[in-house]
Amino acid sequence: MARLAERFGTPLYVYSRAALLGRLQRLRTAFGAAAHICYAVKANSNLSLLAAVHAAGAGFDLVSGGELRRLQAAGVPTAGSVFAGVAKEAWEIEAAVRAGILFFNVESERELPLLAAAGAAAGQRVRVALRLNPDVDAGTHAYISTGKKENKFGIALDRAGAVVEAIARERSLQLVGYHVHLGSQLRQVDPYVAALQRVTAFADGAAVRREGVTHYDLGGGFGIGYGTGDALDVDAVAQALLPTLRERGWTPVVEPGRYLVGDAGILVTTVLGEKHQGATEFVLVDAAMNDLMRPALYQAVHAIVPVGPAAPTERTVDVVGPVCETGDFLARGRSLPQCRTGDLLAVLAAGAYGASMASNYNSRRRPAEVLVSGATASLVRRRESFEQLFANEVDLHETFHP
Ligand SMILES: Cc1ncc(COP(=O)(O)O)c(C=O)c1O
Repeated sequence: MARLAERFGTPLYVYSRAALLGRLQRLRTAFGAAAHICYAVKANSNLSLLAAVHAAGAGFDLVSGGELRRLQAAGVPTAGSVFAGVAKEAWEIEAAVRAGILFFNVESERELPLLAAAGAAAGQRVRVALRLNPDVDAGTHAYISTGKKENKFGIALDRAGAVVEAIARERSLQLVGYHVHLGSQLRQVDPYVAALQRVTAFADGAAVRREGVTHYDLGGGFGIGYGTGDALDVDAVAQALLPTLRERGWTPVVEPGRYLVGDAGILVTTVLGEKHQGATEFVLVDAAMNDLMRPALYQAVHAIVPVGPAAPTERTVDVVGPVCETGDFLARGRSLPQCRTGDLLAVLAAGAYGASMASNYNSRRRPAEVLVSGATASLVRRRESFEQLFANEVDLHETFHP
């Protein structure tokens, strides 16, 4: 790790291909070969990771036209992808219809005319699944809970019947399934079971709700340990859902993001020094909330360990970055060995919602990313340059007098 940091600098994201593929295999073993795994691109949208996921036989869960463009840039087929999103735009729908995907996950009635128009223009029936909002509490952080009726996602069960009927009336649309996504970082099996029960009860409410239905997309949200608890038991989820799905002839679709890449990545950062203020000892590092936003955004806890030999004594510290926000911390009240300037620390389980949520706040360049495959480490994203940071603001000759 120290050699990678020396070569590529820090802050540096480092991913393990073996860890990613190992998780993919675990899901295959749990859900069976017939299940369709769609990696949630938002978790980490690096082109090389997308290519690795595709090479391992998985499809993708998309939520924007930009993510579709990423698949195309990675040279990855889109046919095995599903497309969700609470406010899809006409151009995004048209692009996905043109590219060809497995199905759209429809989140409101307003999408139906857009989907029908795109289908008619392309001379094809558009395959849709209805994203239902089953009003199930996922027991996760409020910001990443998506399946409660007060959340903006999906269609409430008491309105969904009318949407199914509207799809049935539209010749350019074909209902092929149901979709739920309850939230992220779930650790319990019960919400998945409750959601399926509500979806089957809904489907049993009228024949038109079952006709042509071949897929049940149970979403993602599979929680990982983060060093503070147990990961979701994916075998138990599969065992709880598969008998019902088999009985109905519904192919399971899963959309894991964090579960595949979270534990497969770390963020390596350099200690810049220490500072004592009030009762707190701060360890100042070169990674910040713009590189890894999760602690600031969700009070997320990431384990942090020294890279290389550590001092025997530990003390309680806050690990903070250079950004001008009190919310800029990677860890608070954490026990860490004494560090010296120049030491490296690794922030663990940083592969998901790390690089993909990174920003340029404080005019910081987003970090470089490296993918380790066996004994080989490849740079899969260069550290941004300052020129790239300013490129859209210089040489502007466009004026406008409204
Ligand atoms: C529709 C959908 N599917 C899948 C995911 C992936 O979630 P996770 O990374 O928790 O598996 C998300 C994330 O928010 C999502 O919105």
